[in-house]
Amino acid sequence: GAPVEVDISRLKPGQIVTVEWRGRPVWILHRTPEMLESLKATAARVVDPMSENSVQPKYCQNETRSIKPSIMVALNVCTHLGCSPTPKFVKGIESGIDADWEGGFYCPCHSSTYDLAGRVFKDKLAPANLEVPPYRFVGDGKLIIG
Ligand code: FES
Repeated sequence: GAPVEVDISRLKPGQIVTVEWRGRPVWILHRTPEMLESLKATAARVVDPMSENSVQPKYCQNETRSIKPSIMVALNVCTHLGCSPTPKFVKGIESGIDADWEGGFYCPCHSSTYDLAGRVFKDKLAPANLEVPPYRFVGDGKLIIG
């Protein structure tokens, strides 16, 4: 499949877009400083905090699972059976998940949950973090996936 070019110059902090790459949905989320901060709190509650057993390019095998900390790129495909998780950015009990919820992604099929780096929480059916596709930046406002 051909690489996909995405203009992210107008993607504001807190905004997420979905693009299609090789027939699969890919999220691009512009994380706020607060969202990035939440990854420190969730690190102890996820299965694979350093993504040692998850799929991503080598350059994204880090705490934020990204090239630039503020920009998250990940497949919107649950690693359990492939459903599409839903972004849940409201924190705490109002999220409908739990009081400790820091924001992340919720899979409606069998309730696996992921943090704002796509890292799967412990005791869920999904075995691994959301897949990160290969990507790169061109200039400030352009992202190329694939
Ligand atoms: Fe997501 Fe089963 S497909 S939890």
